Amino acid sequence: MVPGLVDCHTHLAFAGWRAGEFRQRILGEGYLEIARAGGGILSTVAATRAATKDDLFERASHFLDEMRDLGVTTVEGKSGYGLSLDEEAKQLQVYRRLAENGPTRLVATLLAAHVVPPEYRDDRDAYVELVIEQIIPLVAGQNLLARCCDVFLEETAFTHDEARRILVAGREAGLLPKLHADQLSDGGGARLAAEVGAVSADHLERISDDGIRALAAGPVVAVSLPIATLYLDQAPLPARRLIEAGTAVAVATDFNPGSAPSYHLPFALTLACNLQRMTPAEALKGATLYGARAIGMEDRIGSLEPGKAADFAVIDAEDVDGWLYHFRPNACLATFLGGELVAGELN
Ligand code: NIG
Ligand code: FE
Repeated sequence: MVPGLVDCHTHLAFAGWRAGEFRQRILGEGYLEIARAGGGILSTVAATRAATKDDLFERASHFLDEMRDLGVTTVEGKSGYGLSLDEEAKQLQVYRRLAENGPTRLVATLLAAHVVPPEYRDDRDAYVELVIEQIIPLVAGQNLLARCCDVFLEETAFTHDEARRILVAGREAGLLPKLHADQLSDGGGARLAAEVGAVSADHLERISDDGIRALAAGPVVAVSLPIATLYLDQAPLPARRLIEAGTAVAVATDFNPGSAPSYHLPFALTLACNLQRMTPAEALKGATLYGARAIGMEDRIGSLEPGKAADFAVIDAEDVDGWLYHFRPNACLATFLGGELVAGELN
């Protein structure tokens, strides 16, 4: 029996898949090259804007059902495929309905700063202003449609300075800062996460020595996303060095239609072991206690302790090594949320 798995980084509510880019990347085109040519995240933005709230809800709810079968009881979902006041609100309203509908615990993150939308291509400052002056206040004002505020700090997305301004504005409005940091290039994201008091810094495949020092023994969780690492054919984040420096390393799927088209968290755990040299026990802790910490919920979920929710999964394995080494479609026999059976069965 393990604590219910926490997938602390997904882009769950989206429309459209991007299998064409999968083939393009296999044939040698880069993720950023595809993005610069108008594909990538922006093609999902177009598909998601064209979808209704009901479509997005149905798709996401089906994903959550299958995640529960795998033992996943809490899921963080980001916006970021809307990129306007109304469209970001639309995605967050889908998350709110999913949260209310249950049984999976759903935590929403505002990622209005995912990329600059096409309407603002020639005036990115105006988009940053829109995020700070309108989108964050709307989200924070509506009884926290989101719990966290995230920014994609990257050459094709937002600069270090823009990321800082947005995260500080979010924090002042009561949203926990998070950062897509140092994924495809080292942008000083890890240090920025530490400076703004982020709950997590995610990706980190390109974290520098300075970034490792900035996170050392601090409260920021380093969220590893090995499915994205695998699909983008990158060198993995240096999990051993982070762990040795006293940083909590979480593991999540990054489920999205581009760089990580899978919500199979146990698959991510097996990859974390193989690619990142984490032990199975470290990987499990990364998708339970540290996953909960990465969304500011460690006091309620993430371990089986008095005072926390009775979220747990029953796994068909002798121990954690046996579970994660023998990769199977689904080793989870039953999933419980708040003590109630929500997937599988126990004889
Ligand atoms: O976490 N890095 C930026 N955002 C996502 C990718 C989203 C997409 O490709 O649609 C990520 O990998
Ligand atoms: Fe992501």
